[in-house]
Amino acid sequence: MAYINNREIYISFLEKHLSKERVLHTLAVEKEAIFLAERYGVDICKASLAALLHDCAKGFSDEELVELAKSYNIPLSIWDLSSPQILHAPVGSMFAREYFGIKDGDILSAIWKHTTGDKEMSTLDKIIFIADYIEYNRNFPGISHLREIVKKDLNSAILFAISLTVSYIMRNNFVIHPKTIEVWNHLIKEVKEI
Ligand SMILES: [Fe+2]
Ligand SMILES: [Fe+2]
Repeated sequence: MAYINNREIYISFLEKHLSKERVLHTLAVEKEAIFLAERYGVDICKASLAALLHDCAKGFSDEELVELAKSYNIPLSIWDLSSPQILHAPVGSMFAREYFGIKDGDILSAIWKHTTGDKEMSTLDKIIFIADYIEYNRNFPGISHLREIVKKDLNSAILFAISLTVSYIMRNNFVIHPKTIEVWNHLIKEVKEI
């Protein structure tokens, strides 16, 4: 894949626009995503690139994210406008296409869906979602259990991750993005039907 030659370009962009911690996080997500791609038989190059660019829009301010979302015709909900940082996922996907010329729909989808998830998720989408959650710099109650589950079943891992997120949100009186509930309902149905 041509992107291997562009790896240095992507990393130098990230180093220029993201914090040092965010760059380290990105590289850790990439490592985890490659591990999971091998485990679940997904294209390793796609997993690597999706992970590398998943937070490429994280350096934009709230105002810039809203403006970019409008310019890319990304639908804006009241939930997005009240927490514009959530837009770094869809904006990042469009930015990866426009700025870096990424054309692969699987990669763009994984970047788009990495924060809230979606009721339609490919295995690659799930890998990036969960790799973002459990990369080795992350440390929170329940993570050891989550790292065990993810080796056995991606859907159960995502469900457990959502349950941790929702408990945290509720404990802190934050807003739950409706998409989170939608993903939960869809996956719990899928897991129970198996
Ligand atoms: Fe992100
Ligand atoms: Fe991330």
